[in-house]
Amino acid sequence: SLVVADTGDIEAIRRYQPQDATTNPSLLLKAAQLPQYQQHVKEALSWAETQGGDVIAQASMKLAVSIGKEILQIVPGLVSTEVDARLSFDTRASVEYARRLITLYEQEGVGRERVLIKLASTWEGIAAASLLEKEGIRCNLTLLFSQCQAVACAEAGVTLISPFVGRILDWYKASTGRDDYTAQDDPGVLSVASIYEYYKSRGYPTIVMGASFRNTGEIEALAGCDRLTISPQLLQELQDDKGELASGLNEDVVPQAKPEQPLSEA
Ligand code: E4P
Repeated sequence: SLVVADTGDIEAIRRYQPQDATTNPSLLLKAAQLPQYQQHVKEALSWAETQGGDVIAQASMKLAVSIGKEILQIVPGLVSTEVDARLSFDTRASVEYARRLITLYEQEGVGRERVLIKLASTWEGIAAASLLEKEGIRCNLTLLFSQCQAVACAEAGVTLISPFVGRILDWYKASTGRDDYTAQDDPGVLSVASIYEYYKSRGYPTIVMGASFRNTGEIEALAGCDRLTISPQLLQELQDDKGELASGLNEDVVPQAKPEQPLSEA
């Protein structure tokens, strides 16, 4: 698996040297509090004041792009920048937001080939991605919890999907009261393994990137998945466990978790 850092923290990205990085609004809010981004925050706010409309929304968009640009000076691959979650059920507004993000990146000298627009895997988000991909704007479909969302994304021809692990496990823990899941019966791991198997057995070119990890066992159980996006804390734990971060995640193996077990029975 290629290692992706799930963070906007530039120091962490320097430390772990991932292939790509993924951001989302809460990660950017955290990053915006770091001293090295204070100038970017000021500039984003002054720029937003000249744009009219919702200043905070405009500034967030600008800041996401400035942080994305910084990240791209370090990672060799791609950065994912998310569309405002309030637009997740509005295809047209999502497409417009994504086009604006790409325009802002291009104004900063960053080509669209280095950016993935992150959209929620709602019906409307997937429809937006299908339109954007036709314009050469590549998309990362996130908040993906089920096989049917994955099938719709495959059929829409999106560049990358981010099926979630941890939030599925959180839900199972809360609803069953069980707290003893292992990587082998973790319903989030089983869901991603099953989605990965579906994509690969049918030859879909979409990249499958496991996301939303809660522990290193989940990550190791999904080694072999195309990419894995991992928080700095878990990257550190992996490094502590293995000495070298990527060892053990680079083997091209089929995920160990058995994909046959339907999620509903997990
Ligand atoms: C990545 O694309 C996601 O934003 C991230 O992995 C979500 O993780 P969480 O469930 O810990 O918020």
